[in-house]
Amino acid sequence: MWPSDMTKDYQNSPMVTSDQLRTRRERPRRVKMLTRDFIEDSLYNPSYGYFSKQAVIFTPGEPFEFNNLQDEPEFSKLLGERYTQFEDKLDEKHPNESRQLWHTPTELFRPYYGEAIARYLIENYKLLQYPYNDLIIYEMGAGNGTLMLNILDYIRDTEPSVYDRTKFKIIEISSSLAKLQQQHLMQSLDSKGHHSKVEIINKSIFEWDQLVPSPCYFLAMEVFDNFAHDSIRYDPVTEEPLQGTVFIDKKGDFYEFYEPHIDPVASRFLRVRHAATGGSYSHPLNSSKILRKLKAIMPFAPNLSQPEYIPTRLMQFFDVLGKYFPGHRLLTSDFHDLPDTIRGVNAPVVQTRYQRRTVPVSTPFVHQGYFDILFPTDFNVMELMYRAITGKLTRVLTHEEFLRRWAYVEETQTKNGENPLLTWYKNASVLTTV
Ligand SMILES: C[S@@+](CC[C@H](N)C(=O)[O-])C[C@H]1O[C@@H](n2cnc3c(N)ncnc32)[C@H](O)[C@@H]1O
Repeated sequence: MWPSDMTKDYQNSPMVTSDQLRTRRERPRRVKMLTRDFIEDSLYNPSYGYFSKQAVIFTPGEPFEFNNLQDEPEFSKLLGERYTQFEDKLDEKHPNESRQLWHTPTELFRPYYGEAIARYLIENYKLLQYPYNDLIIYEMGAGNGTLMLNILDYIRDTEPSVYDRTKFKIIEISSSLAKLQQQHLMQSLDSKGHHSKVEIINKSIFEWDQLVPSPCYFLAMEVFDNFAHDSIRYDPVTEEPLQGTVFIDKKGDFYEFYEPHIDPVASRFLRVRHAATGGSYSHPLNSSKILRKLKAIMPFAPNLSQPEYIPTRLMQFFDVLGKYFPGHRLLTSDFHDLPDTIRGVNAPVVQTRYQRRTVPVSTPFVHQGYFDILFPTDFNVMELMYRAITGKLTRVLTHEEFLRRWAYVEETQTKNGENPLLTWYKNASVLTTV
């Protein structure tokens, strides 16, 4: 992992971070950076990042009437049609062959998904805080703002006394999505009514520096998957870890390097993970040491293991929660498994959309801003790390188990008894603080 003809250029180039690149309008050249900084810059750079420029979150318009649909295939078909209509409408205004369009359970199952979460919030609030504290809800990464509106509508309509004491604050990194959330809030008379309860804070959670001492609920739905990760490979014989960096040359081509120096953030991650899990987690070196030594002396044996992608940003998010939100209770949902990932342990899916088709690629080092880079979350490990960092206890349920508890599942049942709210997103889990 040391592209030899590039070594000199690599060594002579400056190391930059995603923070240093935030004010740049052009993609950088002749620099090197850690894998996590490259991913962060690709996804979130205010000028050319994926979430600033390209991303559009599908919304179905009128909620689906599941009770009037025959079965899941009819739901899929209808969803396909609504997708096409949604994109045709966007193309009428601004044709765009590389528009990045995706959907989330919040949108597909609105308002039922948001109402299930609202029930969870109301019940826990009434049990633990009412009437001594207000119901304060933070949502990190609110997309179109749909979950917020569905939750506030439900609280207003079912629990007026709780609604009187509710405040909802969004923390959103993308300024275009923050604007959209504000627009959706002001769109109808009904939603405008929530205005005095809502604050939309357009900043990254990693810039957060205010102490929130009151008890609060912290929502994060499908945000962890887009948190930047570091890449680590190991020497198969000595087991020494090496940290991934990428060099971008003067033409904008990418070269991957691995350095034996591990930066303090990745190094802390490796230490905390080891301590929190007692050493039990998936690892690229999980075959026996003797076997590895034998393999290493074979001709053409790779000199490093496969990469593993470690969620350093997720660990830093837990640090923010622990430090600034001591009274929080977290409710988060994300993918525990993803299909079509690139090679490696805990590896991401890297994909783009072109002419309305998904195009997967095999490396994260691709033209910044055009590709979604999304990672699965290892809930077993992350739950233990969250507990170790925040000192709180947790429960992990599958998406289905959580919704069986909190949704009115009859509302999303089709005529033949199938239930897409429960059976779609089989690869998602929900973690809550208990
Ligand atoms: C995949 S979308 C999910 C949107 C919404 N939660 C839903 O489920 O429909 C991820 C959201 O997280 C936001 N986001 C990502 N990283 C963030 C960060 N560091 N701080 C705040 N928001 C972030 C994105 O801009 C986007 O709104």
